[in-house]
Amino acid sequence: GFKAATASSGKTAKELRGDYSSMAADFTIDQGWDRYTDTDHALWRTLYDRQSKLLPRYAARTFMDCLSRLDAGDGVPDFRRASDMLEKATGWRIVAVPGLIPEGAFFDHLANRRFPVTNWIRKPEEMDYLEEPDVFHDFFGHVPLLLHPVFADYMQAYGKGGQRALGLGRIENLARLYWYTVEFGLIREDGQTKVYGAGILSSAGETPYAIESPSPNRIGFDLERVMRTRYRIDDYQQTYFVIDDYDQLFTATGVDFGPLYERLAGPPEYAPADVLPTDKVYTKGTQQRVLGTKTA
Ligand code: PHE
Ligand code: FE
Repeated sequence: GFKAATASSGKTAKELRGDYSSMAADFTIDQGWDRYTDTDHALWRTLYDRQSKLLPRYAARTFMDCLSRLDAGDGVPDFRRASDMLEKATGWRIVAVPGLIPEGAFFDHLANRRFPVTNWIRKPEEMDYLEEPDVFHDFFGHVPLLLHPVFADYMQAYGKGGQRALGLGRIENLARLYWYTVEFGLIREDGQTKVYGAGILSSAGETPYAIESPSPNRIGFDLERVMRTRYRIDDYQQTYFVIDDYDQLFTATGVDFGPLYERLAGPPEYAPADVLPTDKVYTKGTQQRVLGTKTA
């Protein structure tokens, strides 16, 4: 999913840690489920249990409901089994990839309701931090909401939109939309703010931070505002955008982006921590994490 940001990772296949030697033209590989070791499965369970404990307090109910339907707590999931279940529900399948893949290939998979999931799992010493998304981030973070009919349609629409944006040279703007929704999105639920973004929900540190820390801004989702806002790839986010529900996301992005892209070719562009007079502000962050007190 950071896949949409392959460009911003600045890495070529050579510098990435996955095995790109035996992939097909569409960058897929065999998951090689039989090759996971006991250590791999144990690490999956540790990560799964740690995140699961945080979910009731911080995660969107939709995410938890969908996650439990996947029944994926026992060890690294077999993509074939999960795909069969997913396909019956929303028509999506999971395809294994060695890691980050080029944008064009990524968009093509999404546009055809295939979600690329990295096959390797991190090392035990990387429990809390790793530079590239692994199977835990990709599967635990992204796959559950593919069971949600509206979100599933949004992801496909995003893939089609990505192909168009590539042609128009506006990938940077579109990548911000992915970043601030699919990866780091918050959602209103019964008068509270909850997490649905995969980048947050696969991180034990950012999950409580996104909801409870006084440091970041929490601002109502606005499409053009989001697409004008740069993001951080090196630390927790300084701003989160909050949707009312997945219908809002699907409807707001359902319009023709042509005129929008023309406006986006000009200024302004916003810094990650900016708060604007026009923002619907849920929380104005102190930004204390960045200012160095690190007490967040
Ligand atoms: N509506 C967008 C376009 O016209 C496509 C899109 C849909 C992009 C959903 C992102 C999410 O290009
Ligand atoms: Fe991701």
